[in-house]
Amino acid sequence: MTARTSDIDIDKAAGVLRAGGLVALPTETVYGLGANAEDPTALARVFQVKGRPPTHPLIVHIGGAEYLGDWAQDVPTAARLLAEHFWPGPLTLVLRRGHRVPLEATGGLETVAVRVPGHPVALTLLEAFGGGIAAPSANRFGSVSPTTADHVRAELGDGVDFVLDGGPCGVGVESTIVDVTGDVPSILRPGGVTREDLEAVLGRPLAVPSTSRVRVPGQHPSHYAPRARVVLVEPEHLVAEAERAQELGHQVGVFLPACLADAPVKAHAQVAVPAALSAYARELYGFLRALDQQGCDLILASLPTEEGLGLAIANRLRRAAGPRTTV
Ligand code: TXA
Ligand code: MG
Repeated sequence: MTARTSDIDIDKAAGVLRAGGLVALPTETVYGLGANAEDPTALARVFQVKGRPPTHPLIVHIGGAEYLGDWAQDVPTAARLLAEHFWPGPLTLVLRRGHRVPLEATGGLETVAVRVPGHPVALTLLEAFGGGIAAPSANRFGSVSPTTADHVRAELGDGVDFVLDGGPCGVGVESTIVDVTGDVPSILRPGGVTREDLEAVLGRPLAVPSTSRVRVPGQHPSHYAPRARVVLVEPEHLVAEAERAQELGHQVGVFLPACLADAPVKAHAQVAVPAALSAYARELYGFLRALDQQGCDLILASLPTEEGLGLAIANRLRRAAGPRTTV
C-alpha cells in the first residue's frame, strides 16, 4: 500500500468493480482502466470510455500465478517458467483462453493475455476483489499511456468511477507481451521485462516484432502518440533540425540526449533524456505529455540503442512517430 491509498479506498474500488463499474488502478508499468473481467457489460464500457474498437483484446490481471489455471488452458512449461521468474511484474503471457474469460475480454479471440502486476495497490485490490481485472492502459485509444493518477483524471475524467492513486509508475512503459501458444515463444510487444532477461530464463533466442508490421491486434502504427507530431532524428542532426523547424514557425520540443546535455538548442521547449534507460522509460510518457502541455506542435527525438529497456523505448517512440490513421 502507498501513503496515497487506504484500506477504505481498496474496499471502495472492489465494490465499484463488483457493481460493474470502472476503476483506474496503478500498476508498475502504467495505470490501467479496470473492470471485472467476467462482466461483459462492464467490459463494453471499457471499450466505450477508451474509444477502442471492441475487437482489440484486453489484458486480464490476476492476483498470482496460482490462479492461472482458472483463466488459461494448456499452460506450457515455458509459461510456468516465465511466470515463476517475472510475476508479479511487467510481463504478459498470451495463452489459450480459459473458462472464466468471456470473449468480450479477448476481442473474440480464443487466446487470452494474462499478467500479475507488480504494484502493491494493484495486488491488494486483486485480493480484495477476488476475481480477474481486465484493464487496458487508462488512456484514450492511440494516445499516450498514463503514468500518474492525474494523467488518468485529465484524460478520462468522469468516464472512470473511481481512481486509485498509487503514485507515479516505477517502470513507465507497458508490460512485455510474450505469446506462449506456439512451439516457440515470441515477443509480441517489447516492454518492461527485457528480451535479454527472457532469453536468459528460457535459454533460447526470441523473435521480436518488426515495428513496421502489425503483429498484435490493437497495435497500429500510430499509438502512444501525443498531440504534437513526433519526428525521429539522428542525434547529430538534432540541434540543427530543431533550429530549422523553429525558423519554419514550429513550436519545437526536443528530447535532448545526455550526450547533448550542454548543447545550445533553439527550441520552444526541451526535456533532458536521462542516461539510464530505466529512468528514461519511467519518464518517457510524462515527457511527451509535458511537451504537449507546453504547446509544442513538433517533437524531435532520437532512438536509444535497442538493448535492454531501449527496445521498448524505441518501439514506443517509433509508434508515436508513426503515420496517424484512424483505426
Ligand atoms: O503494462 C501493461 O500491459 C498495461 C497495464 C495496465 O497492465 N496494459 C496495457 O494494456 O498495456 P493495453 O490494452 O493498452 O495493451 C494490451 C495489448 C494490446 O496491444 C492487445 O492487442 C494485446 O495486449 N493483447 C491482449 N490480448 C491479446 C491476445 N489474446 N493475443 C495477442 N495480443 C493480445
Ligand atoms: Mg495501451
